[in-house]
Amino acid sequence: MENRPQWGTRAGFILAAAGSAIGLGNIWRFPATAYENGGGAFFLPYLFALLTAGIPLLIMEFTIGHKYRGSAPLSFARLNRKTEWLGWWQVAISFIISVYYAAIIAWAMSYSVFSLNLKWGSDTEGFLFGDYLKLAEVPGQTGSLVPGVFIPLILVWIITLGVLFKGIKKGIEIANKIFLPTLIVLFLIIVIRALTLDGAVEGLNAFFKPDWNAIASGKVWVAAYGQIFFSLSIAFAIMVTYSSYLPKKSDITNNAFITGFGNSAFELLAGIGVFSVLGFMAVQQGVNVDEVVTGGVGLAFVVFPQIINEFPAFNQFFGFLFFGSLVLAGLSSLISIVETFVAGVQDKFNVSRTKAVVVGGGLSAVISVLFATQGGLYFLDVADYFINNFGVALAGLIEVIVVAWVLKELKNLQEHANSVSDIMLGAWWKICLAFVTPVVLGYMMFDNIRTNIS
Ligand code: PHE
Ligand code: NA
Repeated sequence: MENRPQWGTRAGFILAAAGSAIGLGNIWRFPATAYENGGGAFFLPYLFALLTAGIPLLIMEFTIGHKYRGSAPLSFARLNRKTEWLGWWQVAISFIISVYYAAIIAWAMSYSVFSLNLKWGSDTEGFLFGDYLKLAEVPGQTGSLVPGVFIPLILVWIITLGVLFKGIKKGIEIANKIFLPTLIVLFLIIVIRALTLDGAVEGLNAFFKPDWNAIASGKVWVAAYGQIFFSLSIAFAIMVTYSSYLPKKSDITNNAFITGFGNSAFELLAGIGVFSVLGFMAVQQGVNVDEVVTGGVGLAFVVFPQIINEFPAFNQFFGFLFFGSLVLAGLSSLISIVETFVAGVQDKFNVSRTKAVVVGGGLSAVISVLFATQGGLYFLDVADYFINNFGVALAGLIEVIVVAWVLKELKNLQEHANSVSDIMLGAWWKICLAFVTPVVLGYMMFDNIRTNIS
């Protein structure tokens, strides 16, 4: 594609890739996952997964996008005309994620407004599942859509599709240049305040206390790989798509290391922040930290409002910062997810970006309305479980097997990456992708199937 759009700057690409990676997974998934899988000891399998799978695969996806200059389906088709389906499959997973990711960002948007008067009251659980979501049933069912859910969702889509309409340099790049630095500043303020709260030390002790026995368990390694894949947005068609807009002369390997370590640094920061406030809450309630640890929707929309209620000062301000951070982190990820199918449709059917945004983004937007409701919460659970346990690992596994073993393309990709990068890829890169990653991911799949059957 000769006139394919390009990133304006190297920083623009890195911020966009990091913006995709840094998302809800860092803030509400990593802390609880690490805690439940060995605490301080989890960092060992986590780092292993980052270095043997996360960064090597990121390099591979950047290389495929850069070399073949297409959306994921087009790049995989150019790699070999028999593997276009691999790109579409990853696009399909991204589509499903976009639908509930958008709903969650919309909730975070409402909650950032609710923080201003602590609207959730003292029974934060009752508020979320009662007042907030129950009133928001699908029209024609029990209730009607309340503005509290619907309006923010519309806003999320206006921003996301608006950015995508503008294209790569003027849309995605500028959005990430604003969102990511702002997110980092807001989050740093929260973490510094959190660290000075009463009970922060108890929380951090609970978080970092290593349970070395845990790393003998396969489940912990599975959790580490799962976290790395989801967190780095690998095997979701995203990184191939984003790197297809890189100029010819772009360092690939270095960019992958920066993105990978940047994402993990944010993850660590989130773990410290979240456990400091969980420690604070435990001390307030006179209970053990392990009694208050949660992740996901429960952490963000039930436990956090409770913590904000109990904050010593400036409750509203910190509530707004926290939910504002979720919104920023979420939006930059959502933009990258939707771009995968916008680019896919554009390349496949040769239509304009505007048409692709209207059709692809529009479809996801419409379906996401259903997820923003109480009934949608059930689908959210199912979709999230399925994606995390099968979608990611399986797509990643098949991707490495196809590239390394079926097409035997690793050597060509290595040469391509080395021809533009500072850091030279050596044998370790191929060993990680051809042996280590397939063995671990294969075991993950096997383990998932086994535990789901029993
Ligand atoms: N990487 C993002 C996060 O950590 C989530 C994400 C997954 C984004 C899949 C895009 C695609 O939250
Ligand atoms: Na992430």
